[in-house]
Amino acid sequence: MTETQIYSEVDLEQIDYEIFDQLPHTSGGRLSSFELYYPKVSRNPEIRKVYSLIKKIAKSNASVMIQGETGTGKELIAGAIQAQSLRANKPFVTVNCAALHEHLLESELFGHEKGAFTGAIATHIGKFEQADGGTLFLDEIGDMHPSTQAKILRVLQQQSFSRVGGNKTIQVDVRIIAATNKDLWMEIENGGFRADLYYRLNVVSIHLPPLRERREDIALLAEYFRRKFAREVKKNVGSFTDETLRLLCNHSWPGNIRELRNIVERAVLIVGEGDSITAKDLAMRGQDYFAAGGRNRRRADRGEVGLPTLNLEVLEKQAIVSALEQTGWVQKDAADLLGISPRALNYKISQHVITHAGWRKHSMKSA
Ligand SMILES: Nc1ncnc2c1ncn2[C@@H]1O[C@H](COP(=O)(O)OP(=O)(O)OP(=O)(O)O)[C@@H](O)[C@H]1O
Ligand SMILES: [Mg+2]
Repeated sequence: MTETQIYSEVDLEQIDYEIFDQLPHTSGGRLSSFELYYPKVSRNPEIRKVYSLIKKIAKSNASVMIQGETGTGKELIAGAIQAQSLRANKPFVTVNCAALHEHLLESELFGHEKGAFTGAIATHIGKFEQADGGTLFLDEIGDMHPSTQAKILRVLQQQSFSRVGGNKTIQVDVRIIAATNKDLWMEIENGGFRADLYYRLNVVSIHLPPLRERREDIALLAEYFRRKFAREVKKNVGSFTDETLRLLCNHSWPGNIRELRNIVERAVLIVGEGDSITAKDLAMRGQDYFAAGGRNRRRADRGEVGLPTLNLEVLEKQAIVSALEQTGWVQKDAADLLGISPRALNYKISQHVITHAGWRKHSMKSA
């Protein structure tokens, strides 16, 4: 897809942005109105599918596994499921599985009795009990210690547990939503994640596409954030210039929506009162910015060629590897970045003998 193609697909005129300003700031629940409104205006078929799936499964008690890169909105989706569930008015309890040491995680999840271990000066009610009747959101589940994985699995199978240092069996009614930015299949193959737990949690599987795979929504989201932050700081901020929009639409967004949100928030703060947001207000770094036509002078623009070698063979391989790294080794996206067809890229990959551990597994997975 060429730059102009991507850009012209975004028909900004057709979006009724005034609605953004009319939406109440919060929906009364955990989500802002826009976050609930986004699926209705998203032009990305994957996103629309995700939300129609959510609608169908929200009211059940099925476990949900949400996978997606950092900043794609996994936590938001977990909240959206809860908001549409029959448990909407019940607790929504989050546990960050990566942040806690394995022993602390157990006591965090299941609680502990007074005196269970040194420092356990009082009885502690764990997250499972806190979430009773509601939803337990296990964030970053791919980073959970194997021994904790085993315990969680047992709880899910038996629907009951005991506090650390306790012998009373406690029964709870908890719906589990888990999220990870890791490729759990890869983790399972490496022995880092239990397949049985994966199957238990993965009753409903949601994959959130990275922002670079929903470019048709970039302008929409950027415009939403521009209005939101301008309203928050009570500033009159002009719209994005065409060049700015082109840069936004062509950036590869490794930090996804979070990165977009931050960039727009900063631009709103630094732009002059009443001025449009120009490319220089964007503070975007890296090759994407230049590739997308950013104004900052490259060394090459000044007549210097800042290349480690002029050997075309070597440069080609470097460009291919770098494009693959930037796109998470997705060949189709890397081909887009390189401006060649996926077929041509595939040929060059075998020519340069470039390999990646994920490819074999992905092809096995889709087989
Ligand atoms: N559809 C959306 N509309 C508005 N804001 C969004 C949307 N999706 C995500 N965001 C914003 O992007 C940021 C990242 O979202 P979130 O925390 O849900 O991502 P995540 O996938 O859980 O990321 P991580 O893996 O790093 O935890 C948040 O500030 C969130 O409000
Ligand atoms: Mg998150």
